[in-house]
Amino acid sequence: MSLRTRLLAAFAYVLVLVIVALEVPLALNLSRRVDAEVKSEAQSQAALIASTVSGRLGNGRELERVLAGTARDLGGRVIVVNARGRLLADSAGEGLESSSYASRPEIADALRGRAAQGTRHSDTLGEDLLFTAVPVLRNGQTAGAVRVTQSVDDVQSEVRTDVLALIAVGVVALLLGLGVAWLLAGSLAEPLRGLARTARRVAGGDLEARAKPEGSSEQREVAAAFNEMTGRLGRSLRAQREFVANASHQLRTPLTGLRLRLEAAGLRTDDPEVRRQLEAAERETERLAHLLGQLLSLAREPDGGTGERLLLAEEAESALGRWEGPARSSGHELEASGHDGAAAEASRADVAAMLDNLIENALNYSPAGTSVTIETGGDAAWVWFAVCDRGPGVSPEEGERLFERFYRGSGSTGTEGTGLGLAVVEALAKRWSGEATLRNRDGGGARAEVRLPAAGLPTPDRQLDEALPGGG
Ligand SMILES: Nc1ncnc2c1ncn2[C@@H]1O[C@H](COP(=O)(O)OP(=O)(O)OP(=O)(O)O)[C@@H](O)[C@H]1O
Ligand SMILES: [Mg+2]
Repeated sequence: MSLRTRLLAAFAYVLVLVIVALEVPLALNLSRRVDAEVKSEAQSQAALIASTVSGRLGNGRELERVLAGTARDLGGRVIVVNARGRLLADSAGEGLESSSYASRPEIADALRGRAAQGTRHSDTLGEDLLFTAVPVLRNGQTAGAVRVTQSVDDVQSEVRTDVLALIAVGVVALLLGLGVAWLLAGSLAEPLRGLARTARRVAGGDLEARAKPEGSSEQREVAAAFNEMTGRLGRSLRAQREFVANASHQLRTPLTGLRLRLEAAGLRTDDPEVRRQLEAAERETERLAHLLGQLLSLAREPDGGTGERLLLAEEAESALGRWEGPARSSGHELEASGHDGAAAEASRADVAAMLDNLIENALNYSPAGTSVTIETGGDAAWVWFAVCDRGPGVSPEEGERLFERFYRGSGSTGTEGTGLGLAVVEALAKRWSGEATLRNRDGGGARAEVRLPAAGLPTPDRQLDEALPGGG
């Protein structure tokens, strides 16, 4: 679960708690207040009717008229009874007139001079009813009673509407709160994501990458500590590289001296055994020189300056020239194929070193009598050169390990080598933003490939120069 989701969940939980704690008592209070208001309103209406009818108790027609008007206004039923509880008038009609209501508790209360109020469910009407009964006073005596009966459904639906409005307010508050939480969580998570991106760049070899100090003070502290660590790592790695480069460089001069002396000693002796030993020693110095060369290639800065636009087919052709002799002696047929347009931006020495290492491997690890091909090609984005052989290929378990420094594959027994060749090729390919791969070919053999970003077409000026007589 992401940090953002966790924070949102925590916010939602707290918001829901707060909203429920605030709104539930509010809704209860609201319904109680509406209820009380309706009841007191009904009571004052009933009292008003009682005072209106107090002088007209004997006049049935007049009573009916007053009741019809007030019942319409109230939206309920109004009845008037005399002091003995007999019905004098009913807004609902005349059919029930003169029946006795004295046994109804609210009427009995009113006839005793007390106002009464209550609710009851009417099965015939199928709704809850609020009834309010008040005494009708004449000359300080109870001369009858008025009872008003109203449906409370309207009141309840009004309370429901108010509660729904409260819920809506709660939902809006929740959504607003979650919106704010979303932004806040984003501002917390983004610096962490930035730090992760930078860490990945550093892991990928970019030791100049630095985390942006942003976010809270703690997050800035982490970024600063991370940057300090990367800085130290970069410095110590650079120091190590410089040491290897210096040591390799310093060893070269005495090694050349040693080789020259061995050569000279070989020329001076007539003893064939001594000469054989001296020649073997010379080969050892050559191996040592090769190893120092590889170490120097690895130790050079990863961003090795600016390159030049190289046509890969031309570089393959020069490599062919360099390796024709060795290929002939090892019994291989070496050839180059590919299209002429593929160009990359790189240093000529680096491309030559990559090709040399790959061709050396192909000759070393494929049997005599087979062919080795240097292929070049590319598309709009990438160009590549590949050295293909018909040897045993590589075992899938070894895969990436073959590119590790000083790692020699299971198929390398019996051949000389240090296990640095592919590591050098990979380092040089990365230096020019490319990559190196070693795969098996269909039909047997290995295909070692280096892909580099395409350097595009030559500029129009250059094309024109090349097209002109004497140009190119
Ligand atoms: N064309 C190939 N066919 C089969 N195996 C190969 C091929 N190229 C490389 N390998 C395997 O990969 C291993 C690593 O190659 P790498 O060039 O790094 O070292 P090396 O050739 O052993 O020594 P050196 O440092 O002299 O090149 C080799 O030991 C070999 O087992
Ligand atoms: Mg090699």
